Amino acid sequence: MMHLNTVFFAYSILTITVVVTLETCHVCDVYNVGTNTAEIVDSISERIDMLSDEIKQMKAQECNNSREHTCVTREGSSSGPDDDNMSEVTCLEDEVMTGCSSVLEGGRHDSRNGEKIVFSAHGRATCVAYNGNGGHGVRAFARCCTWKDMTCYYPKSEKSESQDDDIAETVCDHWFNGRPTIPTGCMAFTAWTCIDGVRPVGDQSEGTTSPITRNACQAINGYCGAGVYSYAACCSAPDLECGVKYSTRSGTSSWDSASVMCDEGWTLTGCNSFTSWVGNIGAYIEGDTCKAVNSNNFGVWAVATCCRGTTR
Ligand SMILES: *[C@@H]1O[C@H](CO)[C@@H](O)[C@H](O)[C@H]1NC(C)=O
Ligand SMILES: *[C@@H]1O[C@H](CO)[C@@H](O)[C@H](O)[C@H]1NC(C)=O
Repeated sequence: MMHLNTVFFAYSILTITVVVTLETCHVCDVYNVGTNTAEIVDSISERIDMLSDEIKQMKAQECNNSREHTCVTREGSSSGPDDDNMSEVTCLEDEVMTGCSSVLEGGRHDSRNGEKIVFSAHGRATCVAYNGNGGHGVRAFARCCTWKDMTCYYPKSEKSESQDDDIAETVCDHWFNGRPTIPTGCMAFTAWTCIDGVRPVGDQSEGTTSPITRNACQAINGYCGAGVYSYAACCSAPDLECGVKYSTRSGTSSWDSASVMCDEGWTLTGCNSFTSWVGNIGAYIEGDTCKAVNSNNFGVWAVATCCRGTTR
């Protein structure tokens, strides 16, 4: 009992001392505390103020960083005009590749072999576009992003069947760093030309950003094709959210194009050209605009993949 009382008494004195020394020092005498102790407490409380300011700044900085997504487009040089000639392009070392598009530079309307993302001998993600039989060369367009903590992998589907409109689907089903991956870009590749198109799966209403369904990309085989593969850029990042936005349909003349831009607050990460009627010259990106080029009597749609990291 004696012991407990002593402890409580000591505790009370201590509490009073701390509270009091935060005040100015005319109370030093009253409570029998030296000016040294008062100064020490003063300087500690000053340091606490500084630290809390620093923490506030760091928090603001972190918040800024998490919103910092910038993407640019990097172009390969034009491929040769022979079957399977390639145009290749990589991102810079501190960028991550979120999409890969390609467009024919001339030639027959169904002569595109498409594009895919592969790892080069140096271990760098590389966007490769392939010229097809009858094409006059293609050009590859990589979308390269600086995006906090983004990690991607690039899976490939089985080959589709070879009938008209047969579909090859790739699903993003891996997680990185405890986060799911979602498609930021879709690619279609075949060795036999005749691709209808490729797009993230989702609602096809024009001019509206819709969720991507099943985390999947689909490539569609044309009536004259022998099967197509779909590839996906599957990426994870803090609070990453992606949607699909269709343009209005292009005109029906050859080389008519369709354009779509992402909504305010969203960043273009992938760009595709889609139609159900072959005659698809491909897709490319100009600034932040996704463009698709037609060469059939019905038109094509430009399909943008738009992503953002939600603010916390
Ligand atoms: C955050 O970004 C805004 C706008 O870019 C800038 O004005 C501000 O100084 C930044 N804050 C910090 C803490 O970096
Ligand atoms: C195009 O392909 C042909 C045949 O495979 C090859 O000889 C030629 O070097 C290629 N051209 C380019 C520019 O890659």
